[in-house]
Amino acid sequence: MIAARLSFPSQYFIGPGILEKGLKAVPSLGNRTVIITGKRWAIESGTLDKVMKILSENGVESHHIPGISPNPDHTEIDKMAEMVREIDPDFLTGLGGGSVLDATKAISIAARMERKIWDLIIERPRKVNVYPVVAISTIAASGSDFDGAAVVNNRSLKAKLPIGYPELIPKISVIDVELHTTISPYYTAVGCVDIFCQFYEPYIMGQGHFEYSEIMALEGMKRVIEVCPLVIENPDDVNLRGELAYLASISMSGLARVGRDGKFSMHWLEHVLSGHYPEIPHAQGLATLLPHYTKFFIERRPEVFERVAKTLSDSIENLVPFIENWLEKIGVRKSLRELGVTESSLEPMAHDVIKYYGWEEGRVSAPIPMDFNDVLEIYRMAY
Ligand SMILES: [Fe+2]
Repeated sequence: MIAARLSFPSQYFIGPGILEKGLKAVPSLGNRTVIITGKRWAIESGTLDKVMKILSENGVESHHIPGISPNPDHTEIDKMAEMVREIDPDFLTGLGGGSVLDATKAISIAARMERKIWDLIIERPRKVNVYPVVAISTIAASGSDFDGAAVVNNRSLKAKLPIGYPELIPKISVIDVELHTTISPYYTAVGCVDIFCQFYEPYIMGQGHFEYSEIMALEGMKRVIEVCPLVIENPDDVNLRGELAYLASISMSGLARVGRDGKFSMHWLEHVLSGHYPEIPHAQGLATLLPHYTKFFIERRPEVFERVAKTLSDSIENLVPFIENWLEKIGVRKSLRELGVTESSLEPMAHDVIKYYGWEEGRVSAPIPMDFNDVLEIYRMAY
């Protein structure tokens, strides 16, 4: 067994109509907040007004900073951190999907530390200060409502890197699945792929045997695959939406990794992909890489894939076609070429994977090592 440490939100609310109850817990963090949102949905759907009204009824004054982009750039984090510093609230509230919640965490640390976010990402200081974060999650995908990590793009360097601290775990997470019912079939589908990969990657890269974690990971993968088409067919079913949201939180909780410590090495390949192509949604990048990453590793770890295959399909030979069929069925099976990636960018991307994630002498280790040629091969297969 590999030793593990876990941290969770101190209060986690999930269910249909839970927004009001969840926000009643917020005054424990203070009476002034800045709400961070994306560009349109929270505003146009009326959700922002609803959140502000509930906060005001609970004695919390709220300011609003809109405009987080998908795959947010470090410059927008710095700009918003400055605005937050001027307001100097008691806590921040992220209202949106994974990009908004990640941005809220990044802003919370940059603003409180009075530092540029990219400098903090590179320096990784041991001790940090943050504004407490409240997460109101509007899509089941990244699990950012349940972890202390954020990923930030740097468009001028074509890079996308994570920052993570237990201090960045939301103090309060509110997942009202009634807010999830308007998510389009496409974003529901890519969200499912994100959740699947968050169980799958650490499972196949995990070391040794630790039975209960393995059961959680395998059953998590199986259930996401089952629930995904059902949610797409029944978008208003808050029970199914709730299950998906819960799976998303658990997939990033670390619970299914305890004892085996597998890393997210396909996520790293995707972070570089959407570092170079920030217009590609994170989980679409994952969906594109998934069958090829599987093909690359399946013969290198047959015992692990054997068990995945037994849980999901029937035989190890059928695992890749099974995954491809699922991606096809939910409408996200696309090649890198179809996503607008140019062939000439594959080599620079493979170089960047080694540059940013190859901390073991030029190889990415999670723990099965990948060198430059291995990474390039996976990108080429996905092209
Ligand atoms: Fe993810």
